[in-house]
Amino acid sequence: MRIAIFASGSGTNLQSIIDSVGDGNIDAEIGMVLSNKKDSYALERARKHNIPGICISSKDFDNRGGFIGQMLGTLDEYGIDFIALAGYMKKIPPELIAKFRNRITNIHPALLPSFGGKGMYGIHVHRAVIEYGCKITGVTVHIVDEQYDHGPVIAQQCVPVENDDTPETLAEKVLAVEHSLYPAVLQLFARDKIEVDGQIVRILI
Ligand code: GRF
Repeated sequence: MRIAIFASGSGTNLQSIIDSVGDGNIDAEIGMVLSNKKDSYALERARKHNIPGICISSKDFDNRGGFIGQMLGTLDEYGIDFIALAGYMKKIPPELIAKFRNRITNIHPALLPSFGGKGMYGIHVHRAVIEYGCKITGVTVHIVDEQYDHGPVIAQQCVPVENDDTPETLAEKVLAVEHSLYPAVLQLFARDKIEVDGQIVRILI
């Protein structure tokens, strides 16, 4: 499996995947890292590990076709057959979803379908969880389909919300869980243990 990781931000999930591949815990290669932001720290992390770090932004194209063509062409050039979104802040074009059907995953810092969708990213998610008075939150890894934060759920892990949690403390606890859950899910794909049947994902054991 040759993975492209798409990231817009600091890339701590990217780092956990790089480390897991390095430790032999994901039987895959990271073929490239793609960002829509040329100054994202995720690209810096990629370069530090000699992984091609590429920026493609729709803003640099005057037509959509050129942008999509560049995305598809670059993925092809690097021999990519799997995409892991890790804090990628742009919607994935339907052309990519169609080409990589059931081979694009995303990680979300809450238990979907709660606290997902538009505006639900970063600290906003954890603030909303606390303001609602939830007693548990968590992490979801899911397959990406045409709707935001909607595709089949692959794995979820709970994180308790304590009385004295703030959005910031919760963010830290949730992120720590992300760093172990995402590599574990990617290993399931690498070992061909994931079966997708409509909205239902089965883990083969
Ligand atoms: C994570 O919380 C992830 O769930 C969400 O974006 C954040 C990315 O964080 N999709 P990082 O850049 O991997 O640190």
